Amino acid sequence: MKKILPSILSADFSKLGEEIKQVESFGADIIHCDIMDGSFVPNISFGPKIVSWVNRITDLPLDVHLMINHPEKYITEFHAAGADMISVHFENNYHLDRVIHSIKDLGIKAGVVLNPATPVFMLEDILGICDYVLLMSVNPGFGGQKFLDNSLRKIAELKSMITGRGFKTLIEVDGGVDLSNIKNISQAGADMFVCGSSIFNSPDRKEIISKMRSLI
Ligand code: DX5
Ligand code: ZN
Repeated sequence: MKKILPSILSADFSKLGEEIKQVESFGADIIHCDIMDGSFVPNISFGPKIVSWVNRITDLPLDVHLMINHPEKYITEFHAAGADMISVHFENNYHLDRVIHSIKDLGIKAGVVLNPATPVFMLEDILGICDYVLLMSVNPGFGGQKFLDNSLRKIAELKSMITGRGFKTLIEVDGGVDLSNIKNISQAGADMFVCGSSIFNSPDRKEIISKMRSLI
């Protein structure tokens, strides 16, 4: 089943608990947590402590997207905080195979993230051990950016790489996903849809989530 993942980066942090409970009751599948360090990306968000609070208030799985340098140093901590899925970027990992194995050894799902400028063929020797690949459809760092259209081609390319090799790797798409493009993103082959501003900035979040569900 395809999944909708609200990104709490766009939630109102003064009432984060209520925001999460609300999207959970409206049918969200997984909560996406964006971790930014002000070094790998030009923005700072939050760390493991907040993730552990999020974990306390929701029964939904937590997807932790690490946009930080030296992610290997923090994997145990995010796992302890309640992460069910952890993804690390291709672009800043010298020992990606080791990092992916270290996530899987904790008994949780491991993903590799590609920035918009990184081609999917770079995944050739890592795809087989990834539970999922997160394709960035904006340059990482901020919510509310416009979906980059070449992402559709990348999703389709990755999908055919996965099916051609008989893998079960899932495709997650993150950035600028909204009602206008979610159907095309789904048809290109995506399984998981990260939605920040399109859900949290909407006056009717319930309707947006159910419309999205009907389009994927
Ligand atoms: C961007 C983050 C995204 C962000 C998406 O660097 O990885 O998860 O929250 O926000 P929207 O859906 O508003 O593009
Ligand atoms: Zn993200």
